[in-house]
Amino acid sequence: MEKNSTANLFGKNILGLENFSPDEIRLVLSVAAKMKKIVRDDVKKLPNLRGKAIINLFCEPSTRTRTSFELAGKYLGADVVSINTSTSSMVKGESLRDTLRTIEAAGADAVVIRHKSEGSAEYASRAINSVIINAGDGAHAHPSQGLLDLFTIQQYKGRLAGLKVAIVGDILHSRVARSDIFGMTKTGMEIHLAGPKTLLPRFFEFDGVRVHENIEDAIKNADVINVLRIQLERQQSGLFPSGREYARFFGINEKRLRLAKEDVLILHPGPQNKGLEISEPVTYGKHSAIKEQVQNGVAVRMALLDLTLNGGK
Ligand code: NCD
Repeated sequence: MEKNSTANLFGKNILGLENFSPDEIRLVLSVAAKMKKIVRDDVKKLPNLRGKAIINLFCEPSTRTRTSFELAGKYLGADVVSINTSTSSMVKGESLRDTLRTIEAAGADAVVIRHKSEGSAEYASRAINSVIINAGDGAHAHPSQGLLDLFTIQQYKGRLAGLKVAIVGDILHSRVARSDIFGMTKTGMEIHLAGPKTLLPRFFEFDGVRVHENIEDAIKNADVINVLRIQLERQQSGLFPSGREYARFFGINEKRLRLAKEDVLILHPGPQNKGLEISEPVTYGKHSAIKEQVQNGVAVRMALLDLTLNGGK
């Protein structure tokens, strides 16, 4: 971090990257770099959050995000409880507000929440006093994913500013795209969005972001391609003709990759629809950082928990 930065996330809710300053982003990335050493160590343990309680409230499916928040809290010495909402009192009709108030009363210093409704994390931040970390609210935001994407790019490329990033696929339903767009524009990256017209909202066209209907235009000379999952669970039928058509016109395969820079980096937040938005050789090929993104996700979430609950001391 720059010596004269005053960025400080202590006690803050992490709701979306639209609220982050470039200094705050840099602070998270620099703490994450230290945390990554712990993640790679034989003994993955720091005492920073001893005596703190973190509750994961995931009301939508998750493998990577929930596991990495849980490990992140544990590696920092906190007590972490993950609530499976399908076996919680929410199935008996308990409201989100009452569930949050119960969690707060049980002693949660932080609540990591994922929910299908846009604005649910902000709602939680008004309902209780625990620190709220948004782990995905509908199609709105997924700030820890945006930060781990930035962290991964920085680790591979050594910088962020000036890089050309293509974000391709189901932009319309993607909270990852929204968080990436805020994080990447704030750090000086040039963004090109592409996907079928029906999945590509025009309102994303603002400073530093260009929208293309033709995927080739977006990935030409790209330093990074972030491939988004087609979010079949969030869309009605008819947004694209068929999986085969989608793969043909928008799928990232080895042939398309040749349009990008020679050292292009491939990201995907997971889970992947292989053969649809991304081909298997690309997922496992030399340009892919998809596996590394998962490990970086643990480091970035450690940084977020340490900074919000402990001030990053
Ligand atoms: C993303 C999500 O849930 O928004 N996945 C994740 O957190 N790793 C993207 C997705 O589900 O496609």
